[in-house]
Amino acid sequence: MTTRQPKLIIHGGASSLVDDKGGLQKVRTSLHSIVTEVYQLLIDGETAIDAVVKGCQLLENDPSFNAGTGSVLQSDGQIRMSASLMEGLTQTFSGVINVSRVKNPIDLAKYLQTESDRILSDLGAIELARELQIPIYNPLTEFRAREWIAEWKDDFQGKMGRLFAHTESSEARRGTIGVVALDSQGRIAAGTSTGGKGLERIGRVSDSVMPAGNYATADAGVSCTGIGEDIVNECFAARVVIRVGDGLSLPNAMQKSMAECHKRERDLGAIALDHSGVISWGKTSEILLAAYHNGSTIGDTLEWQTEELMGFC
Ligand code: GLY
Repeated sequence: MTTRQPKLIIHGGASSLVDDKGGLQKVRTSLHSIVTEVYQLLIDGETAIDAVVKGCQLLENDPSFNAGTGSVLQSDGQIRMSASLMEGLTQTFSGVINVSRVKNPIDLAKYLQTESDRILSDLGAIELARELQIPIYNPLTEFRAREWIAEWKDDFQGKMGRLFAHTESSEARRGTIGVVALDSQGRIAAGTSTGGKGLERIGRVSDSVMPAGNYATADAGVSCTGIGEDIVNECFAARVVIRVGDGLSLPNAMQKSMAECHKRERDLGAIALDHSGVISWGKTSEILLAAYHNGSTIGDTLEWQTEELMGFC
């Protein structure tokens, strides 16, 4: 079998706040280091799905991002995380919704790939974690606790409800993480994980665990970030992938879909790649925190603040 040049793109959220260069540099260092580590796995012959899981674990473990450790708190002061995984060749979607007290929600999504029940919500997801003897883990960070208390003192009038992870020195917050990979056998996988929107109602379900926010086929894969409700209204990830399946190039599918979102004033970002190895990204938000490896170079979108709705390489 002929082998292909692997491709990889990851994201650490979308933002409308750009006030912290030091914070941006910290995020860049983290994204580049994760891209380097995960790309090496693909070079070593790892499957797209295993590389995606590893990338999601690394992003979940980094408290800078709103997923796993460092997740935002919901309206009742609790953390509930969601993650999903999709394998493109078999078109298999799996995920967990609003799970608590685990370190890596993406691990549960991975386990569910081969189960007959593949999407579990709160109680079922927690029960699965106990069944698998996954150790109890508290993903709360001091920053997130203080952030929630400040919001509570302010009668929840503040900005925490935005979707952002944090940098220590400012309120610049960026959230939701995602990974899309093409492996040397030409298989595509996509994974997305989040702590949610922050301050949401108990029981609110994130786009990150719907085909709207995370989708892959043999043709293409997409992971989204941004306001979940906007992403669901556009069914963004599935829309881009299906357009590629219907014959549009990935850059054209991204451009067309982002233009529609822009017109309807949606707030979101997305990363994608296709079976031929084209990498693409897009946003209606001000910033998209994404980094990629195209086989020869590592690049990122951190200071990409043009009026353009999408880019590709
Ligand atoms: N995009 C993450 C969320 O809205 O939950």
